[in-house]
Amino acid sequence: MPTDKIAPSLLSCDFTRMGEEIARVERAGADLLHFDVMDGHFVPNISIGLPVLQAVRRVTRLPLDAHLMIDNPDRYLKDFVQAGANSISVHCEVVADLLGIARQIRALGARASIGINPETPIDRVMAVAAHLDMILIMSVHPGFGGQEFIPDSLHKLRQVRAELKRRGLEQVEVEIDGGVKRDNIGPIKAAGANVFVSGSGIFGAGDYGEIIGAMRAEIAACHPL
Ligand code: DX5
Ligand code: ZN
Repeated sequence: MPTDKIAPSLLSCDFTRMGEEIARVERAGADLLHFDVMDGHFVPNISIGLPVLQAVRRVTRLPLDAHLMIDNPDRYLKDFVQAGANSISVHCEVVADLLGIARQIRALGARASIGINPETPIDRVMAVAAHLDMILIMSVHPGFGGQEFIPDSLHKLRQVRAELKRRGLEQVEVEIDGGVKRDNIGPIKAAGANVFVSGSGIFGAGDYGEIIGAMRAEIAACHPL
């Protein structure tokens, strides 16, 4: 099983002081930074993009995890890698050739990941799992931070973890994104996630070190499948 990683989602940070926020979560022990890109088409919201990612790259050595909630993600892969993304998640709902895009991402030198919305079955993504570094399970409807975790996502996590095991692909990471908080991270870990994205759960807390430490303690206390 891959190691557990806490990934603060910058969508919930104070954008007027982004550099300081990044330094604070870095000091607090974040393992990577999750970067949400929204285009107003795939999701009903517009967020941040390439110039901001470039700026973030200049102030941190943490891996940058780009989550592309956009149509036609293949058009922008090279730009995101050049801007400094270490991993790229594209959504299976808008990609016809999943194997092709996974290969493209890896050929550019980034880690390849495919995102799955709450209503989307896992089958198409599992079929290409051998070519992925990570699978991203959305536990809210993408587009906004601060939503409630959809309980059925635990079932989906279990399905994905079990299927990876069956295929001998335990090294593939499973990222959970949406509504992850201190009080539900234990069951989320037990269901099979190892990368935990949290936006409002971390940036909404006063002390980032304290909240990340508490999340790690919950993860450590839980018993996997
Ligand atoms: C939602 C984004 C998430 C979001 C999570 O569309 O993909 O990464 O920032 O925020 P919280 O943790 O507040 O649900
Ligand atoms: Zn995200």
